Amino acid sequence: MTLVYNPFTFETQHNPYPVYTRLRDDAPVYHNLDLGFYALSRYADVLAAHKDPVTFVNSEGVTLEGGEKGQNFLILKDPPEHEWHRKIVSRVFTPRRVNGLEPFMREFCGRLLDPFVREPGFDAVEQFSIQLPLAVIGELLGIPESMRQEVHHLADRLFTRDETGTVSEDAAAAQMQLGILLFGLVAERRNNLGDDVISLLITSEITDDAGNTWRMSDEEISYRVLEMAFAGHETVARLVANGIVALTWYPDQRRELVADRSLLPNAVEEMLRWDAPSHYQGRWTTADVTLHGETIPADSRVILVTGAANHDDRVYTEPGLFDIHRSMDTIVSFGYGVHFCLGASLARLETRVAFDELLNRFPEFGIDESGVERMRSSNVRGLAKLPVVLPTGP
Ligand code: HEM
Repeated sequence: MTLVYNPFTFETQHNPYPVYTRLRDDAPVYHNLDLGFYALSRYADVLAAHKDPVTFVNSEGVTLEGGEKGQNFLILKDPPEHEWHRKIVSRVFTPRRVNGLEPFMREFCGRLLDPFVREPGFDAVEQFSIQLPLAVIGELLGIPESMRQEVHHLADRLFTRDETGTVSEDAAAAQMQLGILLFGLVAERRNNLGDDVISLLITSEITDDAGNTWRMSDEEISYRVLEMAFAGHETVARLVANGIVALTWYPDQRRELVADRSLLPNAVEEMLRWDAPSHYQGRWTTADVTLHGETIPADSRVILVTGAANHDDRVYTEPGLFDIHRSMDTIVSFGYGVHFCLGASLARLETRVAFDELLNRFPEFGIDESGVERMRSSNVRGLAKLPVVLPTGP
């Protein structure tokens, strides 16, 4: 049967794993002529491409549709410029600042989950997995509480794609609105500095190789804030929901976690591997690349299929099985190398806390499969609705 891989079709999004197996085994350098892209799907090839940001660049866009090209996001910068911009953000994104948020995360989980203790169920996405990271990134960046739901709804619209992958007028309008909202916030914060990441970005200086010292403009800061605001909550939200599905399908492992929380960090790694929230990273080649006897010409769109690499049986035994005891050297769910996710430690902490607090209150839960809905996006993979069913009565 002809092998067709189109990440935009809802059928592929529903269950991409069979086509990923065929890509890895039969077409490790897959070429989709209609959509004009190549796909690398084996773990070793994806990792090697991440390690070569000179041949595989980000500046032409990191999605298949490439609608973000030309915008001022950190993720779209190539070395050496990328290095300076990344330094300035990572300087304010310290482990101390991230870890200091744990008490807030726990208290906020309580606020979200306690009202459901005697309820028959809740929507684990809209009422939990979105709200936690949205509040956390809001606290960190300094986005007022009153603005956060709007940020979330605009980010949802911005990420939505139909089966053609076209960036709709609505998605473009949502990004514009989000940009205006956050630009206004940055401009206002300039006159009213606080202890948040926006204020720190406003006051941070950086010196480049040539000895020039500069500060970011409001426009640049707004792009950083925009990027962290949506990257910071959409992905964690999907990871937590995908993890809830895993623990419903594998109840023995859920019981093990209930009994022994020291298993949680590795369980979070397995959730990241088993159904990664970001299923591919887009690149553009600056030179010919020959792999497995095939040549990808310079100036080609290539996608590194993270979701396929994470299920490569050349690296992982029985990759389709969810196993919280799996020992793993690396996973590519946060990328690798120069663009490695800036929020990885924050995301890991949030997910660990989310499950710790969830299992404290609800050691048993199920899912109402009839109410599950998937979000429709280019490369963010996860659920839009996940009705969790709680046991009733004694
Ligand atoms: C489970 C949650 C998350 C996942 C799966 C995830 C995934 C990723 C991936 C795969 C990349 C690399 C993209 C590439 O190579 O093209 C990345 C980069 C990035 N992520 Fe995350 N991310 C998550 C959470 C976060 C959070 C919480 C933040 C908030 C600060 C964040 C901010 C960023 C930024 C700013 C970059 C660009 C870094 C650069 O280009 O230097 N992410 N993320």
